[in-house]
Amino acid sequence: MSGDRLRVAVLASGRGSNLGAILEACQGEDFPARVVVVVSDRESAAALERARAAGVDAIFLDPKAHGDRAAYDRALIATLERYRPGLVCLAGFMRLLSPAVVSAWSGRLLNVHPSLLPAFPGLHPHRQALAYGVKVSGATVHFVDDGVDTGPVILQAGVAVRPDDTEDALSARILVEEHRLYPEAIRLFAEGRLVVEGRRVFVKETT
Ligand code: GRF
Repeated sequence: MSGDRLRVAVLASGRGSNLGAILEACQGEDFPARVVVVVSDRESAAALERARAAGVDAIFLDPKAHGDRAAYDRALIATLERYRPGLVCLAGFMRLLSPAVVSAWSGRLLNVHPSLLPAFPGLHPHRQALAYGVKVSGATVHFVDDGVDTGPVILQAGVAVRPDDTEDALSARILVEEHRLYPEAIRLFAEGRLVVEGRRVFVKETT
């Protein structure tokens, strides 16, 4: 089935554990997607190593080589277009994307965030959750729109916050859910089962 699998590009800045989960899912014979390129804004990102180890093109796009965000994002769009992705997945990509990128893959751009959005968007969501004192946090996979972590929610999973939790401990438990949800969201997208109506995303049953 590999020829007609959905072509996925992943953007990542860091360790790339979500990328790892996606790559692993893509090894499944029946998985309807494959990663065709990984792009990072950090040369030392472990995500690039993971991509290379999986035989996937890994590209470092240097922010310093491009004047401003608009220039960087033009280069990003050009780089991605060479790979003709049907879906672009943000997986710990630490740059804000300009509207040009969002509109280039409108409805085909996903992100994973370690909180139950709309709670605790942006930076340090685990710290925010602990400081607020919520009893449940979790993971969200959502479509990306022009806001920060504001797009329509595809999948969520809750994780109990423990009285003795630290950022690291909570993050580790939420990460388990991220690794489960992200490949599942990609599968649903690839199977054409996600229907967006306004802010709501419905999952069509298989027939
Ligand atoms: C994850 O917690 C993700 O939700 C957030 O950044 C982190 C990236 O982790 N957006 P990794 O690089 O996938 O391990």
